[in-house]
Amino acid sequence: MPARERLPALSAPAPGAFAGVAEADALARLATGELQVRGRLADASNATLYSVAATPEGELACVYKPVAGERPLWDFPDDTLARREVASYAVSAATGWDVVPPTVFRDGPLGPGSVQLWLQAPPDEDGDGGGDADDADDADVVVLPQPGAGLIDVTTARGVPPGWLPVLRAEDHAGRPVVLAHADDARLRRIAVLDAVLNNADRKGGHVLPGWHGAVHGVDHGLTFHVEPKLRTVLWGWGGAGLLEEERAVLERLREDLGERLGEVLVELLSVEEVVATLERVEHLLRAGRLPRQRGQRTLPWPPF
Ligand SMILES: Nc1ncnc2c1ncn2[C@@H]1O[C@H](COP(=O)(O)OP(=O)(O)O)[C@@H](O)[C@H]1O
Ligand SMILES: [Mg+2]
Repeated sequence: MPARERLPALSAPAPGAFAGVAEADALARLATGELQVRGRLADASNATLYSVAATPEGELACVYKPVAGERPLWDFPDDTLARREVASYAVSAATGWDVVPPTVFRDGPLGPGSVQLWLQAPPDEDGDGGGDADDADDADVVVLPQPGAGLIDVTTARGVPPGWLPVLRAEDHAGRPVVLAHADDARLRRIAVLDAVLNNADRKGGHVLPGWHGAVHGVDHGLTFHVEPKLRTVLWGWGGAGLLEEERAVLERLREDLGERLGEVLVELLSVEEVVATLERVEHLLRAGRLPRQRGQRTLPWPPF
């Protein structure tokens, strides 16, 4: 994937929007637009295609993951990853936290798959986000959002910013100590709570991206909703921490919603067992009253970015 992509100019940002596009508008355009593939994301493990959904309003950049391009995995049933992406969006939308960009399941040039709004890099508000000066001059160019949103890093022990939460201490190739750490940040913590609900097996640093107006989003939710515990994440900094009042309220709402509308949406995308397991994870979180602790093996995605 080149660092730059040719794109139409950005529309004006709307409140509560993802990357400057209102959620309902994005869902409608992603679902009905003519899907045109523009390129493949080079480092992605599956066929992850940078695309646009073309409507009379213009072209909306998106990520198209056709089911036919999914690489078989030993631990997840074949041909189910795209639906897990859409199911993750449904749960995220039910939390009201705006973590996962609008995502739909639809047909496309390479068959059915997930189509997710592309998160345009936020405009450079303070000089250290977004792109460089050259990019700002070129309306046709978009800069990739910064992996980790500046909130997750692998660095030397001394390089960890004050207040950050260490997740792993290790050594680099020369035996020097390095630390995987993340900020003690409310937006990141919401992603950690969502991941516990989704049973996300692939929360790498690079799957956390900055949004507009200080928002922080998560992408790549194909490895979610397994019936067995598989939480694999770089966001262990709050392991064992008591739930905040807001988190408890959101989990209680999810519990209710899973028995109603959200449950109906999810059974169209997942197996009944997986939907039941999701409800059980929510109930367990509420009973335990705290975020899960790092336990057992394979709890960190590798590489972490
Ligand atoms: N909705 C999105 N908006 C912006 N960038 C994205 C989006 N989805 C993915 N990306 C970028 O593309 C990369 C590959 O996508 P990802 O979903 O991780 O694919 P894969 O499932 O093949 O690993 C991500 O690491 C991220 O940099
Ligand atoms: Mg990925």
